[in-house]
Amino acid sequence: MSKCSSGTCGSKKASGCGSADAAVARQNTAIAASLDRIKNKILVMSGKGGVGKSTISVNLALGLAGKGYRVGLMDVDLHGPDIVRMLGMPGRMDGELAKDGKMPPLQYNDRLKVISLESMMENRDDPIIWRGPLKNQAIRQFIADVAWGDLDYLVIDAPPGTGDEPMTVAHTIKDAKALVVTTPQNIALADVRKSINFCKHVSMKIVGIVENMSGFICPHCDKPVDIFKTGGGEQLATEFSVPFLGKIPVDPRVVIAGDDGKPYLSSGATSPAAQAFEAFLARVEKELPAATAAVSIPMAKGESSCGCGGGPCNPNTCDC
Ligand SMILES: Nc1ncnc2c1ncn2[C@@H]1O[C@H](COP(=O)(O)OP(=O)(O)OP(=O)(O)O)[C@@H](O)[C@H]1O
Ligand SMILES: [Mg+2]
Ligand SMILES: [Zn+2]
Repeated sequence: MSKCSSGTCGSKKASGCGSADAAVARQNTAIAASLDRIKNKILVMSGKGGVGKSTISVNLALGLAGKGYRVGLMDVDLHGPDIVRMLGMPGRMDGELAKDGKMPPLQYNDRLKVISLESMMENRDDPIIWRGPLKNQAIRQFIADVAWGDLDYLVIDAPPGTGDEPMTVAHTIKDAKALVVTTPQNIALADVRKSINFCKHVSMKIVGIVENMSGFICPHCDKPVDIFKTGGGEQLATEFSVPFLGKIPVDPRVVIAGDDGKPYLSSGATSPAAQAFEAFLARVEKELPAATAAVSIPMAKGESSCGCGGGPCNPNTCDC
């Protein structure tokens, strides 16, 4: 978009390509200003579908917010946005624009801001049919036009693979770091190699690899059963010299909780899966220190610890 391909528009700069260039430049400035206020940007990705990226993203964001950090969660799985459903947030984004003209994100609670295409759609069951340039534009607007404010972490949930969405994130957020999710089977591990090679290709640093669905926790006795192999993620991390962030077992409560919009792994439960998740969370916190110190605060959905009182925080009027 930066150059006119016809080469004939020089005299129409004010209304033609020149103004398009200016709009892109303005958007670039807005993107840079937004990103400047966000300390850590984490792109949760994998080469394979269904390995638990959205589950990890949601629980990671909630877990970090529960430690007192300021967190944003951005769903860039534009074809299959799941985040707001997993968080049980049926509302649509229709809040008033902030003073600076930015769109307020959904507010899960006063520490967690969320944005997903799903919350902007009239009908959530409509299929989304978008090609590359539109996806690129949507993601750029998610960053430029949303009132994220100051954040310690922005967690970005990507669709499977190395297509337009992770590519746009890599190009737009130069200091984003990839958190690669895998499962223990060989076939998934082969896809992780692709993700790691993608990161090398676009010069994106890797926070580390997490092995999800690593062993099964029996619901009757809470003991681990290795129905798949375990340890493949750790081997890959060693092979590629990237941190291994931990193993999270299969636990049926994760599925039920995800479907009910009440994330389980970050709920503070004492089961092996929830404890494994806590260890993973601590590892991420260590790899990516925040801008503010952690203050553990109990947070129920819709509660606000700022000047907004008992109800949800209103980012337009609140100075929190
Ligand atoms: N540790 C776990 N134990 C049990 N179920 C899990 C676990 N992690 C994820 N799941 C379940 O697996 C399914 C797929 O998870 P999820 O949607 O997070 O994967 P994804 O990688 O985001 O998928 P997609 O590639 O389609 O975006 C969901 O039903 C989720 O609840
Ligand atoms: Mg997903
Ligand atoms: Zn058992």
